[in-house]
Amino acid sequence: MTSWAQTAAEHLGAEYFQDPYSVHARLRAQRPVSAVIMPGGTPAWLVTGYAEARAALADPRLHKTGPGWQPEPDSVFAPLERHMLNSDPPDHERLRRLVNKAFTMRRVELLRPRIAAKTAGLLDDMSAQRDVDLLTAFAFPLPITVICELLGIPVADRDDFRTWSATVVSDTAAPAVFEADATAMVRYFLALLAAKRREPADDLLSALISARDDGDRLSENELVSMAFLLLVAGHETTVNLIGSGMLALLLDPAELGRLRADPSLLPGAVEELLRHVNPVNNATYRIASEPVEIGGAHVGRGEAVLVSLSSADRDPSRYADPDRLDVGRDSSGHLAFGHGIHYCLGAPLARLEAEIAFRALLARFGSMQLAVPAETLRWRPSTLIHGLETLPVRLSPQPCSGAAGDIPA
Ligand code: HEM
Repeated sequence: MTSWAQTAAEHLGAEYFQDPYSVHARLRAQRPVSAVIMPGGTPAWLVTGYAEARAALADPRLHKTGPGWQPEPDSVFAPLERHMLNSDPPDHERLRRLVNKAFTMRRVELLRPRIAAKTAGLLDDMSAQRDVDLLTAFAFPLPITVICELLGIPVADRDDFRTWSATVVSDTAAPAVFEADATAMVRYFLALLAAKRREPADDLLSALISARDDGDRLSENELVSMAFLLLVAGHETTVNLIGSGMLALLLDPAELGRLRADPSLLPGAVEELLRHVNPVNNATYRIASEPVEIGGAHVGRGEAVLVSLSSADRDPSRYADPDRLDVGRDSSGHLAFGHGIHYCLGAPLARLEAEIAFRALLARFGSMQLAVPAETLRWRPSTLIHGLETLPVRLSPQPCSGAAGDIPA
């Protein structure tokens, strides 16, 4: 067994953002858990093997909280940090229970007509153009509109969220920018919550306010943090499932053709795209509350563990020929939504949005093509999120006629 001190930690540089897959493959071939220093400077044990990743995500000795891992109470980030993804039991369960019902498969299914209508509207706008950035025109506005409407946040403010939230998940934002954007976000939510307290509406934030005001079950910081988490998790991820998923299909015309020819593959294809593109590259940090052995590594108390979801999902010991996109593959067991108590709350919503989005995109644009060479595409500088900066595509001027081979909307 090796401890951190005995291991020569590898420094991961900015190249990690552009191609985490080859870094993971190299590390995974050596051992399933490696000592690394992440591009932001954080020392961590990076878990790259599938079995070890799954076990680590379910290990109750790996906590979300620990000394030195929380902002000072008077820091500008403190009001954003008191959410379920940063909490251990019993707080975690209390916070998750408050919103669980709103995200069940049955409740989410009720949103289908609204998501389909929003999708159709965005595609109508795109149809008028020949060259578009698919992220700005479609993959970003769809999930942000859905989550804003659910929470009761004005959609008109979405460009502000895009900026703030990109900063918060970035590993390279300057501290002053980080602080300014986090402060702006906190101020925004405090003002919004005050307005909703004066004038409650039929939305999730109003319901959470009354839960807090009646039963004192949420502190003010917990309320702001909940809004922050749902807003950021609700769009930073799905935008990249749609964007990177579409890129993967455009780069593999045979698989794209297979999907067009057999629409019944779509639900399975969404799972395969989740496995293949992993919008969340690495899970959030866990801290060992006591010494833990993971895959031959001796993780000391207080040391950080980073479970690489995208590496686990490309582990050849779990998935044959893992780097290949195969829309007919059985990709069950993938870790794209995490595992254990922090398993993604929004998975049913993300699956529904993706299914509607891909079905409509493929039906409407029979000949979508990448408008730039693939090697010029840039990925965002985040160790958490793996997502493109932009995705320029060229659209067929004619919508598909519904001829054989098209996926009906
Ligand atoms: C393709 C889209 C999505 C992906 C790949 C994704 C992925 C994930 C992952 C990997 C985690 C666990 C992180 C960890 O353990 O460190 C997570 C947690 C979470 N996700 Fe998602 N997510 C997606 C969409 C959404 C949506 C639409 C929502 C909507 C509200 C959402 C809300 C959450 C919340 C609240 C948590 C924390 C759960 C907890 O701590 O118990 N996610 N997600």
